[in-house]
This record gives sequence, C-alpha cells and structure tokens, in this order.
Amino acid sequence: MSADYIDFISHIKRKLGIDLTLYKEAQMKRRLTSLRNKRGFSTFNDYAQVLDKDEVLLQEFVDRLTINVSEFYRNPKRWHVLQDKILPALLNKSTNLTVWSAACSTGEEPYSIAIMLREHFPHVNLRIIATDIDGKVLEKAKRGIYQKQALKELPFELKEKYFRCEHGLYYIDNRIKQMVTFKKHNLLVDRYPRNVDLIVCRNVLIYFTDQAKEIIYERFSDALVEKGVLFVGSTEQIFSPNQYHFSLLDTFFYTKE
Ligand SMILES: C[S@@+](CC[C@H](N)C(=O)[O-])C[C@H]1O[C@@H](n2cnc3c(N)ncnc32)[C@H](O)[C@@H]1O
Repeated sequence: MSADYIDFISHIKRKLGIDLTLYKEAQMKRRLTSLRNKRGFSTFNDYAQVLDKDEVLLQEFVDRLTINVSEFYRNPKRWHVLQDKILPALLNKSTNLTVWSAACSTGEEPYSIAIMLREHFPHVNLRIIATDIDGKVLEKAKRGIYQKQALKELPFELKEKYFRCEHGLYYIDNRIKQMVTFKKHNLLVDRYPRNVDLIVCRNVLIYFTDQAKEIIYERFSDALVEKGVLFVGSTEQIFSPNQYHFSLLDTFFYTKE
C-alpha cells in the first residue's frame, strides 16, 4: 500500500469512523481512485484536504464507499424459502419475533420482511430493527419512496396492496413503514442488538476482509437466540460455519446451535 493511501485511510478513520483496512483493499482502492481522479486530484492527500472542506464531495465519497444498491425481494427464491420454511420454523417456538436487517441500505430489505410478515404471519408480535452505516440512505429508507426498478421482483399483488404509485414513483404504505425502526450502526464498531431471532445481512460481507468477516460472524452468533437464523447474500456462504456455532439450514441460511 502506498504511503499516500495509508495516510488517507487513517484520515478517513478519524473523520468518519470507517476503517477501510477492514474492507477488501484492491476493490476499495480501485473505486476510490477512480472517484478521486474524476474529481481531478492526483494524490489522496490533496483529495483528503478537499473532503474536509466540501460537504457535497464528502457525501459523494461516502456514497462511493458504501455501495447502496438494493431491491425488494432481492434473489426471490431465497425469500420464498424464508417464507415457506424459515419463518414457520422460527414461529413454531414463539409468536414473538425480533428481526435485524443489518446494512439495510434504503430500506427495501426490512420493508420486504415487514410485508411478508404482515401478509403471511399477521399475528406475530414483531420488532424489526434496520441499520446501516450511512445516514443518508437511512433518511431515504424512512421516506419510503422507490423507483419502479426496486420493485421488479416483488409479486404484483403485493405491489398493488402496499404501494401508491404517483408520477412513476412508488410510495410505501404507512402501515409497513411503522413496522420498521431505522438506526445508524457500523457493523465493525458499534454494539450489536441482543436476543435476535432472525438476522438478515446481505450483500455487504463481500466487501470485507476475511478477518473482518470472522469478527462479524462471531458477533452475529452472539446476537442471536439459540436456534436463531442468519440469512446472508447469495454469494456469501460461510466456509466453516461450526466455528461460529452455526449450521447450514438451507442455502444461505444458518441456524445457531
Ligand atoms: C449493497 S448494500 C446491501 C443492501 C441490502 N442488504 C441488500 O442486500 O439489498 C450494502 C450496504 O452496506 C452498508 N455498509 C457498508 N459498510 C458497513 C458497515 N461497516 N456497517 C454497516 N453497514 C455498512 C452500505 O452503506 C450499504 O447500504
């Protein structure tokens, strides 16, 4: 790593509390270098100085860093497994359910869970916590307004029932909005919730180093109740799940033993 990039990483950690050494280096450096070049700076030192003064460029930098793409029912087959197998098994034990959507981006994931539960398990005493490191995406999530593209995997009848379409934008129903509590949270730094029945953490672990992933899996395992479930993204299988007291329940679903 060049001294220029190492200094930049420390600067960002002090400034934003985000430790870039825990994200995969090559990928992250490529993304940040291309943005830096686009803005006309040839060193990270010059770029850091301007980020200190310019809020707009700073937000652009955070956007590049966090990669916020999401959609409702992303990888729909997995959501069907959640509905038909995982949730019935969890609800067999108790009608109370605490769900944590970690790294929730603009809210599509926690709102998908809220819709599914309201639709198929309406009597559950439910708590959905949704967190992300990026305050701006959480503000968007709370607004609950989406482009058509974000709803492409959502079954038609659910789209009709839980959204109002105006001028090409889709507004989520207030009943669904009220089911989710959004909160800023850094998976690498902050305390985790406890006694969670289902953690949904998808399409963020791929960006972390193996060392960071190990720490996060351990902390997820601690956060879950016995027989609680971790639902990961479709490229994020855990290689030795028993190391974290997990066993494979179905593809991309792990249960805590
Ligand atoms: C690609 S989105 C995933 C959204 C959603 N989970 C999904 O699968 O559709 C990745 C999210 O991870 C968040 N993120 C990145 N680093 C994080 C961290 N250290 N702690 C919490 N969230 C983080 C980003 O802000 C971004 O919103």
